[in-house]
Amino acid sequence: KCFKKVDSCFQRKFGTSTAATKTDAPNKKYTIDSKDGNKSFYTVQEEKIEQAERSVLISCPAKTNEKKFLNYLSRHGDINKCFFYESYGTYAVVEFSNKESLVSLHEGTAIPSINHEATVPFKSRLLSLRNTGPVDMSNGQSAPQCQPQTTIHINDLIQRLSKENSIDQQISSLTETYQLTEENVCLRFLVCSLLKDIAAAYFPECTIRPFGSSVNGFGKLGCDLDMFLDLDGISGRNLKRPKAGLSLEYQTKRSASERACTQSILSVIGECVDQFGPGCVGVQKILQARCPLVRFAHQPSGFQCDLTANNRVAMKSSELLYLYGGLDRRVRCLVFSVRCWARAHSITSSIPGAWISNFSLTVMVLFFLQRRTIPILPTLDHLKELAGPLDKSVIEGNDCTFVSDVTKIQLQDNTETLEQLLQEFFEFYSTFAFNRMSINIRKGREQNKPEVSPLHIQNPFEPALNVSKNVNGTQLERFVALCRESAWMLQQREFNVPHSGSGTGNNAPWGLAALLMPSVSQVAGVKGRKKRKREPASERIKGLLESLKNREVKS
Ligand code: GTP
Ligand code: MG
Repeated sequence: KCFKKVDSCFQRKFGTSTAATKTDAPNKKYTIDSKDGNKSFYTVQEEKIEQAERSVLISCPAKTNEKKFLNYLSRHGDINKCFFYESYGTYAVVEFSNKESLVSLHEGTAIPSINHEATVPFKSRLLSLRNTGPVDMSNGQSAPQCQPQTTIHINDLIQRLSKENSIDQQISSLTETYQLTEENVCLRFLVCSLLKDIAAAYFPECTIRPFGSSVNGFGKLGCDLDMFLDLDGISGRNLKRPKAGLSLEYQTKRSASERACTQSILSVIGECVDQFGPGCVGVQKILQARCPLVRFAHQPSGFQCDLTANNRVAMKSSELLYLYGGLDRRVRCLVFSVRCWARAHSITSSIPGAWISNFSLTVMVLFFLQRRTIPILPTLDHLKELAGPLDKSVIEGNDCTFVSDVTKIQLQDNTETLEQLLQEFFEFYSTFAFNRMSINIRKGREQNKPEVSPLHIQNPFEPALNVSKNVNGTQLERFVALCRESAWMLQQREFNVPHSGSGTGNNAPWGLAALLMPSVSQVAGVKGRKKRKREPASERIKGLLESLKNREVKS
C-alpha cells in the first residue's frame, strides 16, 4: 500500500511511471516505459522556468480569505495554481495562465511610501497584500491551509517509522516524508525567477536555473537552493561570423580569464541582490572559492541560497543524478535513507568541513547499486555509449556526454528488496578498501587511487578531481565504524522485525528507526570520545536492546 503511495508521489514529481519496475514484472528484462517519463531533465526544467515566470509571491495577512483573494487577483487574468505557506508570515504563490496578466498586475500595484524611510522603486514580483478599505478579507474565516515547506523533526520521524510494518515500508515512508513536494519545487523555481529579474538589469536574456538537490531528485525539504546564472542563452553568443563580407560584433569589456569574468559578474549581481533585492538578507560574496558564489538568505521562502555562474558541469551532475534517480524507485529510497542516517549521526553536516558531503554520499550509493551482482544501475560509460548526436556535451574540455532518452536504457533483473540493499550497503562500505581504491561511477568498478586522500571518489565529469578531497581520516573512520555497527544491527532479529504491537502506540524504535537513534558517542561529547572509542556503539546497542526487551515484556 505504502509502496503504491510512494510510486504515485514519484510519478507526480518525475512524470515517470514505475509500473514497469521489477516488483511488477519479475524475471523480465524491461525498459522504462511511460508517456511522460521520457521528458528529459531540460524539458522539465524549461517547463518549470516558464511557469515561474508567470508567477508572483505575495505576503498576506494571516487570516486572508482565500476565495476573495483569488477573486481579487483574477481581475488580472486566469489563475492556474495557487498555494499558501508559512515563513515569517503567510505567503501565497500565484501562477497566472498568461504572462500578460503580470503587466496588468504591475500596473495596479503601488510602490509603498513609508514615513521616515525611503524605498528603492524596484518593481519585483514579491508583493504584499494590504487591506485598508472596508472589505473584510477575513470574513470570519480561519487562515488558509498552508503547505508544509519544512520536514518533521528526526524524533518524530523515528516515531513514525517505528509504526511501519517492514523495513521496506520504513524506507518508503522516510522517502515520502523527506522528499520535496511539488509546491516546494515551484517555490524554488519562483525564487530563481525573482532573482533573474534582478540579474536581467544587466543581462536581459539570462536565465537563473536551480541545480543540485533542488532538481536532481534527492532534495529534502529544507535543503539549500543552488542556483546558476546561465548566460549561454544570450543571443549572438554562439553566432558564427560569415567567412567573408561585413559583420558586426559587440564591443565588450575583457577580463584576464573566464574565472575573473565570473567573479566580476557575480560581484555586481551580488551587490544588486544586496542593495535592491527585496527579502534577500545576509548577502556574502564568496568570490575566491574554487567555484565563486554569492550566498544569502531569501527570507520570504526561507531558502538558504547559493548563486553561482559559469557552473555548467554541476548542472550536468544534477542531470545525471536525476536520470539515475528516475531509473528505479529503489535508488531514491536508498539515497534518502542513507543521507538521513548519515545526518542523524553527524557524518554529514550543513557546515562545510572535513565531513562527507551529501553529494559524495549519493555517488557512493550509486556506485554500490552499480556493483550489485546483478547491477541495478548502468555505468556512466554505458550511458555515454547510448547517447545520440544531440546529447554530445563537452564542457571546458571534459566530455560530459550521456544519453538523455531514458527509453534507450535497458535495466537488469535485480529483485533485491530495499531492506536487503540497505543491509548490503552497510556491509559493502564496512569492508571497502578505501586505503587503496577509488570509487568510480563512470567505470562502475573501483580503481586504484591516484592520490593519497583518505576517501577518493572520482568526479564523474572531471576525472582529475576528487569530489571528497575535503574528507579527513577521522571522518572516514567514523563512517566505516557506523556502517559496521548498522550492518550488525540489521542482522539482529531483535532490531529488524516489527513489534507485534506496531501501530498500537507501543512503538520502540526498530529497523531503520533504530539505525537513526543518536549514538552515545555524540552525547558523550568531544572530551570523552577518545577514551570511549569502542564503548559508545555497544552502549547504544545495549540501550536499544533493552528498550526492545521491555517492549516484548509489556506486550
Ligand atoms: P544538499 O546537501 O541537499 O544541498 O545536496 P546538493 O546535492 O545540493 O549538494 P551541494 O549543495 O553541496 O552542491 C550542489 C551541487 O554541486 C551538487 O549536487 C553537485 O552537482 C555539485 N557539487 C557539490 N559538491 C561537489 C564537488 O565536490 N564536486 C563536484 N564536481 N560537484 C559538486
Ligand atoms: Mg544543495
